[in-house]
Amino acid sequence: MDFNIMLQAHRGFAYLILLATAVFVVALLAAMFGYSGKISKLLRKSTLFTMIFFHTQALIGLIMLFFFSPGFKAAKEAGILMKDAVARNTYVEHPTAMIIAAVLLTIVNKKFKANDRLNMSWVIMALLAVALMLWAFQWGRLFG
Ligand code: HEM
Repeated sequence: MDFNIMLQAHRGFAYLILLATAVFVVALLAAMFGYSGKISKLLRKSTLFTMIFFHTQALIGLIMLFFFSPGFKAAKEAGILMKDAVARNTYVEHPTAMIIAAVLLTIVNKKFKANDRLNMSWVIMALLAVALMLWAFQWGRLFG
């Protein structure tokens, strides 16, 4: 296993996450505004898949970060990990925000699985997870 394979896998899962998150947000909004708060099958499924993709991505990302990433190693050795804005964003802010988003999604998935109706606090948790993901996403690297 080398860094490039991990990075390509991480990039592939990033597209899947964007797609799954889009379906998840639509299902969430539909449940909020369309069906008087009832948690639909689509919402349950899309939450589950988004969460699974996030967990897989977190695993790939963490292995890449601590065992493979030449950029992370170089930034640490040069002592610029927190000083350089790009290094900080890629190797600190991006992983941290995504892990928090994954934890929030895990809680939301548990709640949606066990209940029939939405609760506002779970909706806020779900939207916070999506907002963190959108903020920490490496848009420039994937599409730039
Ligand atoms: C959850 C924990 C995560 C960790 C620890 C993590 C870690 C990393 C690391 C270390 C890099 C930089 C690789 C390098 O250039 O050396 C990276 C890049 C990237 N990550 Fe993550 N990541 C995580 C989650 C995610 C998620 C959830 C997404 C998508 C929604 C994502 C999408 C990307 C993209 C698009 C890149 C840029 C790839 C490139 O430069 O070609 N990551 N991630």
